[in-house]
Amino acid sequence: MASVKKVFVNGYGSIGSRITAFLKDDPEITVVGVGKYSPDEKVETAISRGLNVYVPEKKLGEFSNYKISGTIESVLDECDLVVDAAPGGHGYKNKKNLYEPKNLPAIYQGGESTMGSEAVSDLLFNSRANYGLAIGKKHVMQGSCNVTGMGRILEPLRDKFGDRLVRFDVTLVRRWADIEQTEKKLTDTIEMTESPHHGDDVKLYFGKDAPLYVRAIKVPTRQMHLHIMDIRFKDVAPKPSEIHDIYRDEFGVATLWTAKSTKAIRDCAQNMGFNFVDTNMIHIHANMTTSIGDTVQMMYSDDQTGIVIPENHMLMQAMLFGRSYEEAFAHTESIFHMNEKKQKLEEFFAKK
Ligand SMILES: NC(=O)c1ccc[n+]([C@@H]2O[C@H](COP(=O)([O-])OP(=O)(O)OC[C@H]3O[C@@H](n4cnc5c(N)ncnc54)[C@H](OP(=O)(O)O)[C@@H]3O)[C@@H](O)[C@H]2O)c1
Repeated sequence: MASVKKVFVNGYGSIGSRITAFLKDDPEITVVGVGKYSPDEKVETAISRGLNVYVPEKKLGEFSNYKISGTIESVLDECDLVVDAAPGGHGYKNKKNLYEPKNLPAIYQGGESTMGSEAVSDLLFNSRANYGLAIGKKHVMQGSCNVTGMGRILEPLRDKFGDRLVRFDVTLVRRWADIEQTEKKLTDTIEMTESPHHGDDVKLYFGKDAPLYVRAIKVPTRQMHLHIMDIRFKDVAPKPSEIHDIYRDEFGVATLWTAKSTKAIRDCAQNMGFNFVDTNMIHIHANMTTSIGDTVQMMYSDDQTGIVIPENHMLMQAMLFGRSYEEAFAHTESIFHMNEKKQKLEEFFAKK
């Protein structure tokens, strides 16, 4: 076994709490603690789960009612890598103020950017597309949930059909809030997103000239994102069955025939006892795939909170252990059991 590495998770919200929970099952990684910024009930939750909680030095006074373990500034001296799980934009500030001065490697989440003056890295990670580039890197950004999900569909399509593909038009129907963000109220409206970042982010690994056109709207649901994708071919488009075939052995892609809604999938995950009610993957709604002339139309839903968690784990395999893709994949699979979850979902929502 590789020597045990120490990781600090800075931020204990939707993403930080999930990453921490899965790392407990990894004998090669110790979570030295988590970072909290508000003195609320989640401090107790973290402590009750056996975690050490650290807070910013200047906020120490606000946490006097809690049994915290020390300051974030000091715990960073004790770890090999930090997983930043801060709200979008704060990761960049943390890089400048905390991680770079301490020469500490860090993983950032998709609310940050790899472009412009506040870029956290020049690498946007997607294990399916560019795993090898993360080996030996000090600062890497994990793509956001939508960007990760799109890669799982686009990369296998390109591998199989290459220059027969003419263009991809995608409409992202984004969820309003996460299930546990009970403080965020859903507004009864459909919000238009001007210049969504997702297309440009995907092109960072899919190629800057890729004929990918993305639109996004936000709808009042907590139950996943839905991507509606039209794929144009040079000639007659493949049959739906030929499209579904290429995802049969893909990591983190389940092909479902009878899921009537995104919530039906969450309910199934809950009944099957999946951790955090997450599937950690995307789900092709196979009954919605059509092939008309030169175009394939498809839809898939994207588990917003869960999908990036095994990706963060893969990224740690590259940055902490310098593992090959195959080794990393096998180890991540042993913690997340993605194949088993995929099979269970596919059986439950099989063609009747
Ligand atoms: N939620 C998703 O579905 C999803 C999916 C993919 C990627 N992401 C990305 O993941 C990142 C985190 O999102 P989230 O949904 O987990 O957010 P969240 O639930 O709002 O949690 C954010 C956490 O960061 C802590 N925090 C506040 N200020 C901080 C700082 N300066 N440095 C470090 N941590 C700080 C917060 O602490 P306190 O609560 O104590 O104030 C909270 O624990 C964002 O970049 C987001 O875009 C989110």
